[in-house]
Amino acid sequence: MAQKGRFITFEGIDGCGKSTQSRLMFKFLRDNAFPVLWTREPGGSDGAEQIRKLLVEGEPGRWSAETEMLLFNAARRDHLERTILPALERGETVICDRFADSTRVYQGATRQDLRATVDALHQLMIGVEPDLTFVIDMEPTAALSRGLERNSGEDRFEDFGLPFQEKLRAGFLALTQEFPDRCKLIDGSDTPAAVHADIRALLMPLLT
Ligand code: TYD
Repeated sequence: MAQKGRFITFEGIDGCGKSTQSRLMFKFLRDNAFPVLWTREPGGSDGAEQIRKLLVEGEPGRWSAETEMLLFNAARRDHLERTILPALERGETVICDRFADSTRVYQGATRQDLRATVDALHQLMIGVEPDLTFVIDMEPTAALSRGLERNSGEDRFEDFGLPFQEKLRAGFLALTQEFPDRCKLIDGSDTPAAVHADIRALLMPLLT
């Protein structure tokens, strides 16, 4: 029987390079004949992609932190049911650009002290943790200019500004201490190829 697949997530502040890195890892695994799926949050299923638009477009103050948390969890539940769990059942490695750690940091640790609520909701409605998470760390000034340069129209979170990104960075660093076995800290300031090599060295022992 095929071994159940591994669930791998990439996390970090806006513009840290996690999307580039998650795609590089996806391509590397695919090119080396590993069964693999790339997906992202918010999004990753039809319904969750629709919810994504509500979350990433519009004014920074469009939603309260509580409403935002519910929307992220609604999107995540659909994504889990329709994309992530079926792929893991098929034995695929799932590479996901952001997952519940983003909610812990963005909604739980920064705008209000909502972390306990975030955890309770996660346990009730999601209940799944990745096997391994790469937290890509970067200086917020550099990351923010990268993110806004893309001009994607999805800048609602970038638009909260630099102090918010500083808080997020601290939140992600704290997660690597809270979950040291699962969350690996990666220095994202090097070239994409060098960062990819660091990540590969940590991931491949889990997959081979
Ligand atoms: P993402 O598409 O990863 O943006 P980027 O590639 O610019 O990092 O995520 C969109 C935004 O949603 C991002 O600013 C982080 C935020 N977010 C949360 O606040 N909570 C969450 O649970 C998730 C998954 C994302």
